[in-house]
Amino acid sequence: MTDDAITYVDSVDGISSESLSGFFVGWSSPPSPVTHLKMLQRSSHVVLAMHKGRAVGFINAVSDNTLAAYIPLLEVLPDYQGRGIGSELVQRVLTLLEGMYMVDLVCDEDMIGFYERLGLKPARAMMRRNFAVQSGIEDGLSHDV
Ligand SMILES: CC(C)(COP(=O)(O)OP(=O)(O)OC[C@H]1O[C@@H](n2cnc3c(N)ncnc32)[C@H](O)[C@@H]1OP(=O)(O)O)[C@@H](O)C(=O)NCCC(=O)NCCS
Repeated sequence: MTDDAITYVDSVDGISSESLSGFFVGWSSPPSPVTHLKMLQRSSHVVLAMHKGRAVGFINAVSDNTLAAYIPLLEVLPDYQGRGIGSELVQRVLTLLEGMYMVDLVCDEDMIGFYERLGLKPARAMMRRNFAVQSGIEDGLSHDV
């Protein structure tokens, strides 16, 4: 394998916040790389695409590890899009979640084709967003156990 190859990891062990820059493109109040790393550490499942020691794509899932999993975020850095990395991240997290009864995500209408190609089906979703905390809660919710 050459140094130039994209590699995939399913753990954040050894990943520094410095290697997580450039994500949350277009967000008005993005999480910092430190909060991003916390979010990945607190996720039940993660897959990162790495290139030259830097994360160039990520996907995470939160799950009860019993019945259900939710995929909150998928992003590939703009310079790396269109090379199959996003599809690979979805396939890899779905493999990690194999055996779960439900795997859900929410996406915009124009992304339906992308996810359908990866075996997911469209469904209706309900959601709530609190933009005051769009950048995340680095210390976690106070009632965390
Ligand atoms: C969506 C995203 C992760 C895809 O990553 P990627 O590495 O470019 O994906 P792939 O190379 O595997 O696949 C690219 C395909 O996705 C499609 N695609 C990417 N973004 C799209 C969008 N916003 N709307 C519709 N299709 C999109 C491309 O048209 C392409 O289709 P093609 O293969 O028919 O040409 C990436 O574009 C991204 O990070 N976007 C910003 C964040 C985002 O929208 N995340 C998804 C939230 S649900």
